[in-house]
Amino acid sequence: MAEPLKIALAGLGTVGTGVIRLIETNAELIARRARRPIAITAVSARDRTKDRGVDLACYAWEDDPVVLAARDDVDVVVELVGGSDGPALALARNAIAQGKSLVTANKAMIAHHGLELASDAEQAGIALKFEAAVAGGIPVVKGLSEGAAANAIERVYGILNGTCNYILSTMEATGRDFGDVLADAQRLGYAEADPTFDIEGIDAAHKLAILASIGFGARLDFDAVDVSGISRIKAADIAQARALGYVIRLIGMTEIDTAGSGAGLFQRVRPHLVPVDHPLAHVDGATNAVVAEGNFMGRLLFQGAGAGDGPTASAVVADIIDVARGERGAAFAMPVDELEAMPRALTGHRTGRAYLRFTVPDRPGVLAEITAAMRDAGVSIESLIQHGRAEEGGEVIIAMVTHDGPESAVSAAISLLEGSDSLTAEPLVMQILGS
Ligand code: NAP
Ligand code: HSE
Repeated sequence: MAEPLKIALAGLGTVGTGVIRLIETNAELIARRARRPIAITAVSARDRTKDRGVDLACYAWEDDPVVLAARDDVDVVVELVGGSDGPALALARNAIAQGKSLVTANKAMIAHHGLELASDAEQAGIALKFEAAVAGGIPVVKGLSEGAAANAIERVYGILNGTCNYILSTMEATGRDFGDVLADAQRLGYAEADPTFDIEGIDAAHKLAILASIGFGARLDFDAVDVSGISRIKAADIAQARALGYVIRLIGMTEIDTAGSGAGLFQRVRPHLVPVDHPLAHVDGATNAVVAEGNFMGRLLFQGAGAGDGPTASAVVADIIDVARGERGAAFAMPVDELEAMPRALTGHRTGRAYLRFTVPDRPGVLAEITAAMRDAGVSIESLIQHGRAEEGGEVIIAMVTHDGPESAVSAAISLLEGSDSLTAEPLVMQILGS
C-alpha cells in the first residue's frame, strides 16, 4: 500500500475528537477506500491538559495551530477550530501558502473568505474541501457539485441548522422553554461557540450562501443573505401554528429570481410555517434536510444528522479520503474566476401566504384596527385565532394566516400599525412554505 497521508488536526473539540475516534475506529476500511492509510501526526488546541476522552500521546502537540502547516510531517491540514477569522483563517492561509491541502468544517470562514481561499488553492494546485461545513454529515456539497452537476439548479432550500431544528421540534414536542432546550443543544455539541449564530440564523445563512454559490455558479455573497432567526418565536406561536395545521422550522432558501428589474440571486433564512403534510415538517431534532431542484433531475432531498461529533467527523474524513485519492475538484464546482457576480434579487414582487402574530391589550377595537390595516394594505385574511381572555389590563395574542398575496402588502399592513397603542410588542411575520 502507498505511503500514509499525514494529517494535522487543529481543534480538538466536538468535531476534532470525533475525527480522531473515526480515523482510529475505521482505520483499515478508510485505508482501503483511500488507497493509503490516513495518519494523524500532529494536533493543536488551546488547553493541552484537558481530558478529551481520546488518547493524544502518539501525536505531536503544537500550542499554536498556525505552525501545524509548516511541519514536514504534515501533508494535509484539517481546520476544526472555528471562527471566520483569527487562528482558523491564519492557519488556512498558511496551509495554502505551504502548498498543503486544507479540509475544514468552518462555514463562517468559508462564507466570508471562501473565494479568496479557493482562488489561492487553485493557484497553489491543492485541494480546499468543506463538506462538513454544510449540513454536518449530509454529503450535500458533493451532491450539488457532483451528483447534480449536469443540471441547471432551480432552487435549493431546507433546514440548515441543527440547533434551531432541535429547539423548535423539542419545544413543539415537550412544551419546554426556549432557553432550557438551547442549553441541551449546547450540551449535545450541536451549537456554535457563540450560539447566537445558530438562533439568529447566521449559521444557516453561512451554509445557504455556500450552497447558492455551488448551485448557481455565483460568486459567494454572504452579505446579501436576508436573515432572521428564531429568537422571537414563543411557545404560543408553536401552539397556534399547530392549531392551524403547521409546524415552525427555520428555512434557508435560494433561487435565481428572473422577475424583471428585480432579477438576481435570492437568498433568505427565516422561520417558516411548514404544513404538517410537507416532508420538512417531519424533520426533527438536529436533523437537517436540503431540497435541490434541477431541470433534469427534478427534486432531490438530502436528509441526515446536521450536527454532532460522529456525523460531522464522517464528512470531514470523507474529504480527507478524497484528498488521499488525489481528487482535488474545484471548491465551488467551477474555477473561482468563472463564478458569476449576481445582484441581490429584489423581493417586493414575491407572493405567498403568511402567519402574523400580534400581541395586544384585551380591549374593544383592537381587532378592528388590525383588520383595518390589513384591508387598507390589501391583505386578505384566511384564518384568525384569539384564544382566551386576559386578566384586566393584560395582553392576548392574535394569530392570523393570510391568503396568497404579495409580501409587500403584508409589510405595508405592519407599517400602518407602527406606533399603534393597540400593539404591545412588535408583530411577528413568518412566511408559509409552499409546495
Ligand atoms: P468546539 O467543540 O468549540 O472545538 C473547538 C476547538 O478549537 C477546541 O478544541 C479549542 O481548544 C480549539 N480552539 C479554539 N480556539 C483556539 C485557538 N485560538 N487556538 C487553538 N485552538 C483553539 O467546536 P466544534 O463544535 O468542534 O466546531 C469546530 C468547527 O466545526 C467549527 O467551525 C464549527 O462551525 C464546525 N462544525 C461544527 C459542527 C458541530 O456539530 N459541532 C458541525 C459542523 C461544523 P480547547 O478544546 O483547548 O478549548
Ligand atoms: N451549529 C451548527 C448547527 C452545527 O446547529 O447546525 C452544524 O453546522
